[in-house]
Amino acid sequence: MKHQAVEGFSKLSKEGKIEWVINEYLNGDTSTIKILKQYWNDDADLQKLHDEFSENTVSNFYMPFGLAPNFLINNELYAIPMAVEESSVVAAASKAAKFWQTRGGFKTTILSTTKLGHVHFMYEGDFEKLNTAFENTIKAKLVEETNDITKNMRARNGGILNLELINKTADLANYYQIKGSFETVDSMGANFINSCLEQFAKTLKNEIDADDNFTQEEKDSLQIVMCILSNYTPDCIVRAEVSCPIEQLAEGEITAEEFVEKFSRAVRIAEIEPYRATTHNKGIMNGVDSVVIATGNDFRAVEACAHTYAAKDGQYSSLTHCEVKDGIFRFWIDLPTALGTIGGLTALHPLVKLALGILGKPNSKELMGFAAVAGLAQNFAALRSLVTTGIQKGHMKMHLMNILNQLEATEEEKQFFVNYFKDKTVTHHTVIDEFCRLRGVTSVEEIKKN
Ligand code: MEV
Repeated sequence: MKHQAVEGFSKLSKEGKIEWVINEYLNGDTSTIKILKQYWNDDADLQKLHDEFSENTVSNFYMPFGLAPNFLINNELYAIPMAVEESSVVAAASKAAKFWQTRGGFKTTILSTTKLGHVHFMYEGDFEKLNTAFENTIKAKLVEETNDITKNMRARNGGILNLELINKTADLANYYQIKGSFETVDSMGANFINSCLEQFAKTLKNEIDADDNFTQEEKDSLQIVMCILSNYTPDCIVRAEVSCPIEQLAEGEITAEEFVEKFSRAVRIAEIEPYRATTHNKGIMNGVDSVVIATGNDFRAVEACAHTYAAKDGQYSSLTHCEVKDGIFRFWIDLPTALGTIGGLTALHPLVKLALGILGKPNSKELMGFAAVAGLAQNFAALRSLVTTGIQKGHMKMHLMNILNQLEATEEEKQFFVNYFKDKTVTHHTVIDEFCRLRGVTSVEEIKKN
């Protein structure tokens, strides 16, 4: 069946939107109403708050909000809130936290906090003339004419750090940029940076128009393409690291030396092999994103930035590194990430406020540290499993609950399976076979029919 385009969808009530989707896409299936409404909050004000975060909202999409305790970071103990749907992630973080808690814990260092944005523009004229005007007059005007926008940020020790004219004509004819560097203190800074950039564009155009050194053709050729912050922040970096004497790394039957060799080799492979680096970094982002989401920050921005940074040397590579020096094993991540602890959802979403409360109301630098630590911990746990027992042992144990929930297993049945798999490897087909045996049926379809 071909579907009809809809006019004025956003103006329909929530019920109206649901009715429309049922009729247009779900063959009139009214059970949809129950599915969507069971996630509505009874507290009408809280529901309205959530509805208004985004547009055309018809329900809420829950994500588990978990805690990974025992993180010793810079000599303080923390429980890290993590919002993530994937089984094993919180468990792996907690396991790594416990491991490092008795080996000196995690250390974080802020390497830099500069954020960037660009006015992208076209200009068909003499570059030297433009450059001279930029350095002599325009730059100061850009600062002066954004004074109102930057006032509050300056009061918090932030603001515009630097302005540069960048000639990009070697890559694209007539293409230039004003590159702005900013300090946005505890806010992620997107709105602040974009407001400054849009004013820069107006000022640039006005200054060139008013400057008699430029010909009319040159003035007319100046076209603003766009003004936007860059989510790539290679100068907003936090380092998280762990280290200990190698003899403390013995793992079950594996000696410390063997573990270090296997672990270091796995990191080295991720450094040189993009196929592995992608999965390796995905595991890191399991930890990073969970913290970023729980604390109401923009995980798409953090993801985009991390992956660009991972490819900064021309080939996609590992975000984590390790070394052994003088008998000390050291494992670290340099994570570029722009996070905020004020603005955005941070003061609005009750769970975000709570998450920040659990973390001791961190400033943005401290929050960068928590995200990087969660990423490093996640990577440590994943590599440790991968190079020793294999990932499926732990992962499938956690996945067991998902399979059992899909099968609508009772609490007694779940308990049976947890015990059953204590000393066995979980596989999907074993769970299904054993479940059918327990219920006295030959197939899952038979259960569904009953
Ligand atoms: C799964 O979400 C993440 C891992 O694949 C990461 C890795 O392979 O390093 C386990």
